[in-house]
Amino acid sequence: MSKCVLVTGGAGYIGSHTTVELTAAGYDVVIADNLSNSDMSGVEGVRTITGKNIPFIELNCLDRAAMEKLFEDYKIDAVIHFAAFKAVGESVAEPLKYYSNNIESFVTLLQVAEKYGVNNIVFSSSATVYGQPDVLPATEQTPRKPATSPYGNTKQMCEDILRDTVAASQSLKGIALRYFNPIGAHPSALIGELPKGVPNNLVPFITQTAAGVRECLSIFGDDYNTPDGSCLRDYIDVVDLAKAHVTAVSRMLDDKNKERYEIFNIGTGRAVSVFELVNTFEKVNNLKLNYKVVGRRPGDVESVWADTTLAETELGWKAERSLDDTLKSAWEWEKRVRGL
Ligand code: UD1
Repeated sequence: MSKCVLVTGGAGYIGSHTTVELTAAGYDVVIADNLSNSDMSGVEGVRTITGKNIPFIELNCLDRAAMEKLFEDYKIDAVIHFAAFKAVGESVAEPLKYYSNNIESFVTLLQVAEKYGVNNIVFSSSATVYGQPDVLPATEQTPRKPATSPYGNTKQMCEDILRDTVAASQSLKGIALRYFNPIGAHPSALIGELPKGVPNNLVPFITQTAAGVRECLSIFGDDYNTPDGSCLRDYIDVVDLAKAHVTAVSRMLDDKNKERYEIFNIGTGRAVSVFELVNTFEKVNNLKLNYKVVGRRPGDVESVWADTTLAETELGWKAERSLDDTLKSAWEWEKRVRGL
């Protein structure tokens, strides 16, 4: 019988792509999402791509009774926990919203999972835990820096909550995946990133500018200590990222873990500047983007990219899609959303 994976936040950007890859790998999936930052179009896209009527439960992970009912109704073997808020600026303005939604819901999930004997948990962490590393690329051993936002703090705290809960348990296993900068969309253009309001992140801002929804992209700083003066990041294709979750779940279900709590960087290992990203987007999509250079964005780190050796050797996972193809997919998705 197929193993069943609960994907919280499965209607969202990374969750929807992960649901597709889990299904392709032969897992049954249940999506739980409160649609606070998504809508049913993600779920419908997933159902169309997979040809399966993937179950969707509308709930808030803070709602213990609803969570317990879900674990009663489905025999869950593993959970991938995406459900969380992710806007850095908003988290500074409304910290309690973030601590409640991101921390309390994860604690509730772990408690309910324990009650129902579900022993395999994947947590969505972020390269934000590294801050500005002293040495690059960042390995999983690179020291975490004090978080500069409540959002970043929730990622660090949830990692620690998982680590401590695993340590206190005889049977629980956990994997934290530290994503670098997820971008792009499914090749079908049926699912992708759909930020509500003005995008904070670079690629949705680029695609919305190309689509004419935004007038002009602001590039935040060209006076950094980098080859072209703009920030360096590690942009990871969302389908590649989704596949990393499948390998993490399989590793736990097949008892391949080396430790019961493990951490993996999920990136490409390649540093790309903002200018390089913009130029590549223009080249592969054969268009010109309206952009201007403005001052630095407060809170931005100069450079961060991943050492991906551990994911390659232990998970057998490596990013495959080229930046060109990823940026083409981002544009195809935006065009579909806008009816262009
Ligand atoms: C941001 C968050 C990070 C979070 C991640 C989630 C900050 C400081 N960091 O990462 O904690 O985990 O999103 O996806 O907010 N840029 C522009 N113009 C724009 C937007 C971005 O030039 O309109 C630049 C930024 O300065 C940065 C790069 O593009 O150099 C990437 O920015 P973004 O997509 O927001 O990601 P991060 O800041 O790396």
